[in-house]
Amino acid sequence: MVKVALISGSLRKESFSTKIAKSVGELFPDGYETQFVEIGNLPLYNEDIDTESNVPGEYTAFRNSIKEVDAVLFVTPEYNRSISGALKNALDVGSRPYGQSAWNGKPAAVISQSMGNLSGFGANHHLRQSLVFLNMPVVQQPEAYLANSPQLFDENGKLNEGTTEFLQSFVDAFVDLINRHNR
Ligand code: FNR
Repeated sequence: MVKVALISGSLRKESFSTKIAKSVGELFPDGYETQFVEIGNLPLYNEDIDTESNVPGEYTAFRNSIKEVDAVLFVTPEYNRSISGALKNALDVGSRPYGQSAWNGKPAAVISQSMGNLSGFGANHHLRQSLVFLNMPVVQQPEAYLANSPQLFDENGKLNEGTTEFLQSFVDAFVDLINRHNR
């Protein structure tokens, strides 16, 4: 079973990023298992508390849940033309201790979304910048910029047909990247 972590950059209950991440999780084929990994409980990264005798349990649990998976799908909102502090904090926590990054070498995919027309382009590319350094091969095409998020869902809270079709092609490309990586 190939395991994929779903990470949302937003902590709010009604987050579109979270809804999109969970919906996209259902588009993976047989043989794939997705799990939503929470980032909202992580204390702000501080090297002073990240010592062997003192490391917060939340850091350890988060690092282990990333180490357990084969790939990571990020869905990010845009905060002031970048990613949220919560998402950056999760990247930082997962990247330490130095030389033991939980992210290292894992294939990744990035979806950005915004409630307006802009679709989180700034956040999408700021996230990609960190993923380069974290040594995570990222799906290049198709790029996933989702605009007008409230309109992507039907009255039952399901992603509409056109968006599902597009995101299925995105997941197919991600699966292809993961398979090539695992060969
Ligand atoms: C935003 N929002 C926003 N939108 C955008 O397109 N570009 C931006 O730079 C920002 N900046 C920004 C900063 C902060 C602090 C907040 C709280 C919000 C709007 C934001 O993208 C929108 O609320 C998203 O829907 C949030 O994602 P979730 O929470 O629905 O996943």
